[in-house]
Amino acid sequence: MGEVDVTGPRIGWGVLGAAGIARRRFLPALEQARNGHLVALGSRSLDRAAALAPGGAVGSYEDVLADPAVDAVYIPLPNGLHAEWVRRALAAGKHVLCEKPLVLRAAEAEEIAIMAAAAGRVVMEGFMYRLHPQYEPAVWEPLVERIGRLRAAHVRRSFTQDHPGDYREDAALGGGAIWDIGCYCLDLVTRLCGAPVEVHATGDLRRGVEWTSAVQLRFPSGVLASAWWSFAGPLSQRLSLVGELGTLELDAPFRSDGPSGAWLDTGDGARWIEFPGDDCFRREIEHFGDVVLGAATPAVPLGDSARWLRVAEVVERQVRARADRPGEG
Ligand SMILES: NC(=O)c1ccc[n+]([C@@H]2O[C@H](COP(=O)([O-])OP(=O)(O)OC[C@H]3O[C@@H](n4cnc5c(N)ncnc54)[C@H](OP(=O)(O)O)[C@@H]3O)[C@@H](O)[C@H]2O)c1
Repeated sequence: MGEVDVTGPRIGWGVLGAAGIARRRFLPALEQARNGHLVALGSRSLDRAAALAPGGAVGSYEDVLADPAVDAVYIPLPNGLHAEWVRRALAAGKHVLCEKPLVLRAAEAEEIAIMAAAAGRVVMEGFMYRLHPQYEPAVWEPLVERIGRLRAAHVRRSFTQDHPGDYREDAALGGGAIWDIGCYCLDLVTRLCGAPVEVHATGDLRRGVEWTSAVQLRFPSGVLASAWWSFAGPLSQRLSLVGELGTLELDAPFRSDGPSGAWLDTGDGARWIEFPGDDCFRREIEHFGDVVLGAATPAVPLGDSARWLRVAEVVERQVRARADRPGEG
């Protein structure tokens, strides 16, 4: 690890919950970030907080929000608790970086956008993948231009989830593959193509939550897209784009750290293109700090969060309706 340059302005961070993702990724990344430092980490258990943040442990989320040295909070709570704690953090005057999914309903994202604007605070959904070097405009835009006008897109993500007791398997806490990994697919496809005019989804449920979905989408531009995600599959992710002049296949569209690559084929044979790796969590923390400090605009605007959530609501409704009628054509 290199020396961190901390000569510029730095914002004070609070964390709500001794979450696995905070331990594995957010806290180590914050230590490396040039414009932020940890002030407080709150847990329902003071011991758990102390194990992660010996210097800043507190025994409740409320204590984090009450700390005047906390400028911004990171929310890595179970999905079903995000809406409540984003609102509470805003009411306490904090900026908020909330893990994906920001909330579970588009209307909640819209309400939060209104609250944030009224409070003069930044709220951003933690789609760290958007900060990967492969999506830097200077890299991504010329690459996509090579394949010409977009005609079709396919995105997928899967892994095997089997931890009864995990919030991902609990409907009351926002469980389901759609909120855990489907959100990435829907965010990416709507980011590339905008809001769809048609959505057709089918899938299955397990333990009362959505487990696998296959979705077809049509966009006003004429682009036809599909998405597939599952809690019952290999560790896998892919983005395939078909343009009028060629194809582009992203190896790891949701990568959070290492290098990635893409196959570009514009008619003269597929060519492998490599992208450098970086820690997307550190990049996300630094970017968010820059937004708070007025030096950048959010990489994930709240309008984008509401847009993919509108699609997710339709998908979840259709999957539930069809799963209740197995075998229907
Ligand atoms: N961006 C990414 O790459 C990425 C990766 C993984 C997860 N995530 C997101 O991060 C969030 C947390 O995921 P995780 O895997 O870190 O989850 P996790 O390890 O289960 O942590 C969730 C934390 O929430 C707190 N919590 C409060 N009420 C709870 C309840 N009723 N049941 C369970 N936990 C409760 C717990 O903290 P205390 O007990 O300490 O209060 C717990 O440690 C999710 O929104 C997920 O989508 C993002």
